[in-house]
Amino acid sequence: MVISNVQTPEEISSSFISSVFASRYVQDPLPRYRMGENSIPREVAYQIIHDELQLDGNPRLNLASFVTTWMEPECDKLMIESINKNYVDMDEYPITTELQNRCVNMIANLFNAPLREPKQAIGVGTVGSSEAIMLAGLAFKKKWQNKRKSQGKPFDKPNIVTGANVQVCWEKFARYFDVELKEVKLREGYYVMDPKKAVEMVDENTICVAAILGSTLTGEFEDVKLLNDLLAEKNKKTGWETPIHVDAASGGFVAPFIYPELEWDFRLPLVKSINVSGHKYGLVYAGVGWVIWRSKEDLPEELIFHINYLGADQPTFTLNFSKGSSQIVAQYYQFLRMGMEGYKKVIANCTENAKLLQKALEKTGHFDIISKQKGIPLVAFTLKDPHNKRLPFELSKALRHHGWIVPAYTMPANVEHMTVLRVVVREDLSRQLIEKLVFHITNATSELADQLVRPAVPRIAFTVEVKESDEERGEEKGTLHIPAMGIHWKQYKPEIVVKEVQVMGGKTKGVC
Ligand SMILES: Cc1ncc(COP(=O)(O)O)c(C=O)c1O
Repeated sequence: MVISNVQTPEEISSSFISSVFASRYVQDPLPRYRMGENSIPREVAYQIIHDELQLDGNPRLNLASFVTTWMEPECDKLMIESINKNYVDMDEYPITTELQNRCVNMIANLFNAPLREPKQAIGVGTVGSSEAIMLAGLAFKKKWQNKRKSQGKPFDKPNIVTGANVQVCWEKFARYFDVELKEVKLREGYYVMDPKKAVEMVDENTICVAAILGSTLTGEFEDVKLLNDLLAEKNKKTGWETPIHVDAASGGFVAPFIYPELEWDFRLPLVKSINVSGHKYGLVYAGVGWVIWRSKEDLPEELIFHINYLGADQPTFTLNFSKGSSQIVAQYYQFLRMGMEGYKKVIANCTENAKLLQKALEKTGHFDIISKQKGIPLVAFTLKDPHNKRLPFELSKALRHHGWIVPAYTMPANVEHMTVLRVVVREDLSRQLIEKLVFHITNATSELADQLVRPAVPRIAFTVEVKESDEERGEEKGTLHIPAMGIHWKQYKPEIVVKEVQVMGGKTKGVC
């Protein structure tokens, strides 16, 4: 079963691939959905695929994603050099393993883990934050179950308390691993988890409270310090030991560099694990994330597999077995090359650019900004006219004509009436590009506002009357009996109608 499909109906109807350049070599079109009978020359195969990929969006203009779209050529070269190494073959590629371990230790230090020895950090590289969150969640679940079993208490109803703004990977974890997700609802003007409400929702079955450092929807940092303090009080009263996980997918490589005084990490005693995406502000192309545990005691030993059939004993805790090494090498390159100084400069520059964009959008008079100054470098905004529900989606579509990918999405419970547009400011979004983007947003908004603001729509109502006809019903199988019909219509005076679009509630799947 193929479960992802974004092709247009015309594309689906054609089951052959054709290519202008490749037609010099290939006379017959190649089948699209089954393997061709014969081989084709390699340059033709390249050309066909290269041509087809031209129709993808331009990654640099993809402002929907936090994920890195530009790296230095030296790093691209290193990635190509390690593309044929399977990361899991640790005994065969010990240096790659060593680079991963250095990265884990560097990140643990960055997050202020209390390390007993300089290189004893506990953590692993993953494919992204989603896998990292699955592993962290499993560790919490196992630890909680072990404790409940030892107390002779039921251990079949674990839950996690989060804000309704969590990314979809938390819902996935909950569904895949049978954990209830208890979401604190958002409210007008407050779009992150309220720590007070979260702590009220904690019960004896709560395996952890998940806080987000950098909400996917608005970039805002949740108040992990307040959560830690309130939860510590509750733990003291109840005797529970409910821990905290911080989903720092984006913020983990933002806060340490520009808000070092902000306490959100292992400086807070209840924070037991943290995930971060290397491929977001860790500045590596898609395919790397990290999960770090506070200490060995926070990762139950029974989750770790020891394999030895590829050589020496190797402990592993991942969902997948084989994976590429390039992203690990690239992450190490960035840490080595940039150092604290380089990351500070890049993140500070992104933050400055986000401020410029925010000011320019405010100046247009069309938008309200809902992202906060202190947070992920992004600008999330809504249209001032809240009645025109179609406008944000039409604006997103209009920007696509200029190549920009700016998502529009509805917010989760209880602010689902809001539709937000979001621009993620990455390293490669230069000031010149920002100026052009604002120009296109302003023009498109004015044009659309004129077109979409309550056009007069003529309305005609039809009624269809269906009567039994006198005609005899045919005896033969397959004979159609057509009833007599009358169609009556009535035209109303054109009137002003605001057209509403159906918008999906729940998690916003299109943003990551
Ligand atoms: C807060 C948060 N958590 C988790 C994820 C999932 O991260 P990944 O794409 O690295 O799996 C995202 C993605 O944007 C996110 O914003």
